[in-house]
Amino acid sequence: MDYREIPFFKPYITDAEIKEVEDTLRSGWLTLGPKTKVFEKMLADFLGVRNVVALNSGTAALHLSLVALDIKEGDEVITTPYTFVSTVAVIIQSGAKPVFVDIEPSTMNIDVSLIEEKITERTKAIMPVHIAGQPCDMDEITDIAHKYKLFILEDAAHALPAYYKGRIIGTIGHTTSFSFYATKNLVTGEGGALATDDTNLAEKIRVLSLHGISKDAWKRYTSSGSWYYEVVHLGFKYNFTDIQASLGIVQLQRLQEMQKMRRHVAEMYYSMLSDIEEMELPFVKEDRETAWHLFIIKLNLHKLNISRNEFIDRLSEKGVKTSVHFIPVHYHPYYQKMGYRKGMYPMAEAVYRRSVSLPFYPQMTEDDVRYVANSIKDIISKERLKV
Ligand SMILES: Cc1ncc(COP(=O)(O)O)c(C=O)c1O
Repeated sequence: MDYREIPFFKPYITDAEIKEVEDTLRSGWLTLGPKTKVFEKMLADFLGVRNVVALNSGTAALHLSLVALDIKEGDEVITTPYTFVSTVAVIIQSGAKPVFVDIEPSTMNIDVSLIEEKITERTKAIMPVHIAGQPCDMDEITDIAHKYKLFILEDAAHALPAYYKGRIIGTIGHTTSFSFYATKNLVTGEGGALATDDTNLAEKIRVLSLHGISKDAWKRYTSSGSWYYEVVHLGFKYNFTDIQASLGIVQLQRLQEMQKMRRHVAEMYYSMLSDIEEMELPFVKEDRETAWHLFIIKLNLHKLNISRNEFIDRLSEKGVKTSVHFIPVHYHPYYQKMGYRKGMYPMAEAVYRRSVSLPFYPQMTEDDVRYVANSIKDIISKERLKV
């Protein structure tokens, strides 16, 4: 087997994105402006929602959904510890308390059977995270939210586009937050967007995203704008830019083509790796379609001589770069100082110990996938526990 370097991820940028960015750079308008409006409209049409507000990150979208709904000190928001830290950090930054519910190991999503026991009079919202692009059990979450009058604020950083029982993610919860960070399915370098059918909420979020300045703040430097403005909320600097929008417009046009390529890479992994007893491949429930953002395998460590970390090092020596999604949020020193302890969320912890995210991006060739699969097979054949 010849040595190859296989990165964990490569953004898929073509001449079309470069041309569109160049056009913006030459236009004289770099920040939030007409191209952002075009991108927001395109994404709203793609999702079939009334409003999309483009923002400078997925984190900003999650944060503003909490702030705009007046979720604050004394309130509680339910989510899982098996996520990127920003899902939880924004809850704390809003003043509210995150309340963790453990995950269902097969999908790594929130275990809906454990949500109700965590609801108190202070609970205001549920923040489900669609891990790796697979939608959570949204019918059950919606029933619970109706019963207790809670908002559903979806973290769909991984889930563009994903479908639950035929409905695209972005049309179910009160708000849905997407990320366009450099490793995501649609990239704008940094960036994110919030989708909602609630037009008043979307307008408030727009205002909050640009210093709390009243309506159409971005227009104050255009020929139709005026220097005068009023600050009506304590706002943030969370706006998108037209440079990001240039990437987004072209990436959105190419999204389905890139998704097809992702699905093909996933199918190749299944066909090359499905007969290995020492690991489990991603499990996707039948009534939903994952966005195939990540390809997370789980090692059956009781059948191996090596730990997950050693497995990652051995792959890296062969040139195969991997990652781990996720270090449970309550493991981090900041959260330990808050009083969280290892052992509190056993399913999230058990999955964390076993999981490895394989290289996964649309342009992976059959030879790339075969190289990763053969590297895995080689390591496992040497480290299989003899019984
Ligand atoms: C599950 C999850 N939520 C939220 C985010 C935050 O997105 P962003 O990096 O755009 O702020 C990420 C990003 O990596 C994520 O993986």
